[in-house]
Amino acid sequence: MTDTLDIKITKTTKSRLAETDFSNLVFGRTFSDHMLVADYEGGEWKNIEILPYGEIALSPAISALHYGQAFFEGLKAYKHEDGTIAVFRPEKNAARFNKSAERLCTAEIPVDLFTQSIAALVDVDRDWIPAAAGHSLYIRPVMFATDAYLGVTPSKTYKFVVLTCPVGPYFTKPLRVKFETHYTRAAEGGFGYAKAAGNYGGSMLPFKKAAEEGFDQLIWTDAKEHLYVEEMGAANVMFVLDGKLVTPSTRDTILDGVTRDTVISLAKSWGMPVEERRVSIAEVVEGARNGKLTDAFGAGTAATIAPIGAFHHNGEEFTLSDPSTREFSQKVLKTLDDIRYGRVEDTFGWNYVV
Ligand code: PLP
Ligand code: COI
Repeated sequence: MTDTLDIKITKTTKSRLAETDFSNLVFGRTFSDHMLVADYEGGEWKNIEILPYGEIALSPAISALHYGQAFFEGLKAYKHEDGTIAVFRPEKNAARFNKSAERLCTAEIPVDLFTQSIAALVDVDRDWIPAAAGHSLYIRPVMFATDAYLGVTPSKTYKFVVLTCPVGPYFTKPLRVKFETHYTRAAEGGFGYAKAAGNYGGSMLPFKKAAEEGFDQLIWTDAKEHLYVEEMGAANVMFVLDGKLVTPSTRDTILDGVTRDTVISLAKSWGMPVEERRVSIAEVVEGARNGKLTDAFGAGTAATIAPIGAFHHNGEEFTLSDPSTREFSQKVLKTLDDIRYGRVEDTFGWNYVV
C-alpha cells in the first residue's frame, strides 16, 4: 500500500439507519448514509470526498449518457463475528475496473485509490453492514465520463463514485433457466469482458422476454453459433460434470468473475479436477440425461452461488437434483461463508480488513 489517501469526510447529521428495515432488504434499493465521489481532471484524480448519499448535479450533455462511457464494479464487505470488517478481494475488482477503463478508453484509477476509498467509505458506514447469515454490504463503484461534449471521442473528465447497500441473498430459490439462442450478450472483439453499463442495458429485453416465458434467468451462448455456453445472467456459470468442475474459459465475451476464480481456487485446493474450456449446450443436456451433471450454478458477487434447479432446451425440461443435496456447491457455500464471515483462517488472503 502506498501513502494514505487524502479524503475529505463530511458525515450526515440525519442518519437513516434507525428507520431502515434490515429484515426486508430488496437488493440495491437501500443505500447507506454516505457515498464517495472523486473527480478526474487535468490528468489526475482529485477532490476525493465522502459525503452524505444524495443527488449530484451533472450536465445533460455528459458523454456517459450519450455514448456509454461508463462502467462499474460489484464487491461486498462482511462483518465477522468478532466485529472485524473485511472487503472480499477488492484488488481483483480494481484490476478488472482498469480493464474496463482501458476498453472504454477512460482514465484508469490507481489500485490503492480504489481499495482505500472503498475501505474508508465502508469504515464510515460500518454500522450499515448486516451481520445476519447471507447478508453483507454490497459495494458499487462506478466511473463515468463527464465532459459536456457531443463529439464521439474519449472524455477528458470522469467521476468515480462509490455507493453501498446493505443486502441479503439476491436469489432465494433454485433457478429455472433457458439457453438464450436468439439474443447475444457479447460478440468476439466486443466488450463483454468489461463491466460496461451498456452490456446490462442490452440484456434487459432478452431478460424480459425470458421472464415472460416463465424463466428466472437465461444462459447466454456464443454469438456465432449459439452452441456454446458463456454466462448466466449477471453471473458466470459452472457445472460439475462427471466429477469435474467445468466452466467456460474466459475470453473477450466473458466477464472474468471474482467468484468464478474463488470457486476454481477452492476446487483446486480440494484436489478436484477443473476444466476451463468451451462448454457446449449439448454436453450439458447429455449430462442431465445420463446423470453425470451433478451440479450447476451461477457464480457472482450479487448472485453468490445460485443453484440452477431446472433448465429448458429445445422444448425439453431437465430438472436437476435438489440443491441442498449437492455435495460440491454446498461445500463451496459453506467454505466461502466461513472465510467471508471470519470463522476460519483466511489462508488464501482474500479478506481485506478495513
Ligand atoms: N458475469 C457478469 C455478466 C456479471 O455481471 C457478473 C457480476 O459481477 C459476473 C459474471 C460475476 O462476477 P463477480 O464474481 O466478479 O461478481
Ligand atoms: C454483481 O454481482 O456485482 C453484479 O454486477 C450483478 C449486478 C448487475 C446485480
